[in-house]
Amino acid sequence: PRKIIIDTDPGQDDAVAILLALASPDEIDVLGITAVAGNVPLSLTQKNARIICELAGKPDVKVFAGCDAPIARKLVTAEHVHGKTGLDGPTLPDPMMPLQDAHAVDFIIETLRAQETDTVTLCPLGPLTNIATAFAKAPDIIPRVQEIVLMGGAYFEVGNITPAAEFNIFVDPEAAKAVFAAGVPIVVMPLDVTHKALVTKPRNDAFRALGTPVGHAVAEMTDFFERFDKEKYGSNGAPLHDPCVTAYLIRPELFTGRHINVEVETGSELTLGMTVADWWRVSGRTPNATFMGDIDADGFFALLTDRLARL
Ligand code: BDR
Ligand code: CA
Repeated sequence: PRKIIIDTDPGQDDAVAILLALASPDEIDVLGITAVAGNVPLSLTQKNARIICELAGKPDVKVFAGCDAPIARKLVTAEHVHGKTGLDGPTLPDPMMPLQDAHAVDFIIETLRAQETDTVTLCPLGPLTNIATAFAKAPDIIPRVQEIVLMGGAYFEVGNITPAAEFNIFVDPEAAKAVFAAGVPIVVMPLDVTHKALVTKPRNDAFRALGTPVGHAVAEMTDFFERFDKEKYGSNGAPLHDPCVTAYLIRPELFTGRHINVEVETGSELTLGMTVADWWRVSGRTPNATFMGDIDADGFFALLTDRLARL
């Protein structure tokens, strides 16, 4: 299995991404989960990560708390999407499992130093603050990273927090810029992909029909999460942004994209956090990321439902 660190700000869709990873031990070995401030403040994201591990029946997973604010800006949160707790929808018990003592950034650094080079994949599902902070603090770990597979950015679907920017990149654009410039192989799941991974009514029914606590909780989470996108964009169900990352680790052939140059805007107030993706390769700049453009959504939901059934 591929060794990964999930860096996350749960978030209902983060939660489903974590469940998919924990349900797939043949393909994915979760070395740890690092929480970051994003959808809701850090005190809630670290707690939510533990709630989800317990829901998955995996209380031994190590969960670390990381940065509580972006590198150079005030935290912007998304309670308008995810609710006050970040995990609104199902009623889940407070976690019993402990939060690890170490800071998430130190866990990332120590893990990359301890594991063989090119064997650890980072999976950021929120703002890139923890990852960029780890790279700045310990640049020696950068060439040791096998790959970064992240959810963030947009090309054609442009913004969901401003007209120009996707939430994860917008919240900490300086961090995103540093990560895209680090020289690590990067796979990006932008809104262009995740807005095609919609939990339609039959897909939600399939979660509920699993008849398990996990199936029920996922159905309730997506029920809650979809109201925002339905009202705002008239979308046909909740977009499962973050699970695209963990699905890619299991079945990369579900996704197609291009290896292109992606730059992050940090100067302009108008387009702050925009991912300027050179889809048509007109800039001549060196490609630094594989930017996905499409997903086999039916294949994705078949995989997800099948794996959730194992928990
Ligand atoms: C991203 O922002 C968050 O609201 C979601 O969890 C996802 O990671 C989508 O823009
Ligand atoms: Ca997220």
